[in-house]
Amino acid sequence: MAYRTYVAGLRDLAGELRRSDDWDERAFAALNGQASLELRRVIPLKRRRRFGAFFTSSDLAARLISRCSKFDEHSIIHDPSLGMGDLLLAAARQFPLGRTLNKTLKRWGRQLTGTDIHPEFVEGAKTRLVILAQQRHGLKSLGVTSIAGLFPGIRVADGLAQHRALARVTHFTLNPPFGLTDAPAGCKWAGGRITAAANFVVTSLERAKPGAELVAILPDVLRSGSFTEQWRKRVEALAAVRLVEPYGIFDESADVDVFLLRVARRAKNSAAKSVQWTSAPVQTGTTVGDYFDVHVGRVVPHRDPETGKNHPYIHARCVPTWKIMRNFTQFRRHEGLVYRPPFVVIRRTSRPGHPYRAAATVIAGKKSVAVENHLIVCEPKDKTQTMCKKLMRQLKTKAVNEFLDERIRCRHLTVSAVAAIPFQF
Ligand SMILES: C[S@@+](CC[C@H](N)C(=O)[O-])C[C@H]1O[C@@H](n2cnc3c(N)ncnc32)[C@H](O)[C@@H]1O
Repeated sequence: MAYRTYVAGLRDLAGELRRSDDWDERAFAALNGQASLELRRVIPLKRRRRFGAFFTSSDLAARLISRCSKFDEHSIIHDPSLGMGDLLLAAARQFPLGRTLNKTLKRWGRQLTGTDIHPEFVEGAKTRLVILAQQRHGLKSLGVTSIAGLFPGIRVADGLAQHRALARVTHFTLNPPFGLTDAPAGCKWAGGRITAAANFVVTSLERAKPGAELVAILPDVLRSGSFTEQWRKRVEALAAVRLVEPYGIFDESADVDVFLLRVARRAKNSAAKSVQWTSAPVQTGTTVGDYFDVHVGRVVPHRDPETGKNHPYIHARCVPTWKIMRNFTQFRRHEGLVYRPPFVVIRRTSRPGHPYRAAATVIAGKKSVAVENHLIVCEPKDKTQTMCKKLMRQLKTKAVNEFLDERIRCRHLTVSAVAAIPFQF
């Protein structure tokens, strides 16, 4: 695939014999986001979705690794779906250096393991680990001309079909593919179609040794969905859940809410307690989800082609908060889903502690409206503006702010958090 050319460029960077003036700059880019940007540039979204190829940013990867227990010289880190190695890179940034570049590469090669089904990613991941080691050593002469023989535990393979190698692993790091797949035959914790991510977590834990830790970036639906409860029960049977941290949207290219998970594989008969999956206060009354259908707006501005019917268009910067919006100044063509007023929109981005976590607007008028994906849409089930105004009033209360601060600490509101807001009819 076209991505091979990019990986060949990384190889050249690692193979340069002398450090040129701009080597550090190029290495910094290669280790921070460029691999993901390049993938987005050369591979269409549909294909990336099919393979679940969305690489973790260095910030999010560092955050995930900081949630692990400390590494030492006996730690073996394993990423079963390693992509371009962003999680292993974040782990390697915590490792000490050897006396020479060769010694560092040898030691890292023993401790960092992983699999991916795409050979170009596996080669890219190994090469980036070499570049990280070169960068951290800061030598004037570099030149690792071949990666053959380096990182023997990083291989082209199906991450779900590994057995023996996993018994040595002390830390699993995962951002697995999120796409839907058939539940494994005979699976007791899911039936029909499930997110592949659920399967990666359970399979890794089933093969892990007692005490092994697993940290993962996972779709929020596994944390909060009612139909994923059996999966959570299976995870709790295999491991003690130590941390469940809502994060928000993965990045601007993959519009999906994620959370961070840390669990430790149980020893037989261990009764170690798990933390709760959601920290929401116990709810007895009705919620927004009982009266409204809640979705994320469908327009992704820089991705969606401006074709199809022309519609009024709203985005987070043009909707006036706490008002009824009837007149529209912006229009765009959009072929995907549009919404017929009346409905309420809520800005997805909010900060814990800000005066209003769920800043809302009632959208009125007669024409169907195209809504940007930084807005959450609440369509009243009874289709009335009265219900919309009622919701807008209730969203402005201290009780709702406190509920959201408690339920979701990250900046981005999720559909499930909005649907769970207490709402009195
Ligand atoms: C969401 S990406 C994440 C990559 C990397 N862990 C990261 O955090 O940047 C998931 C990766 O899983 C790989 N993948 C998909 N199915 C796989 C399988 N059965 N075994 C191993 N890797 C797989 C894809 O090629 C892709 O690189």
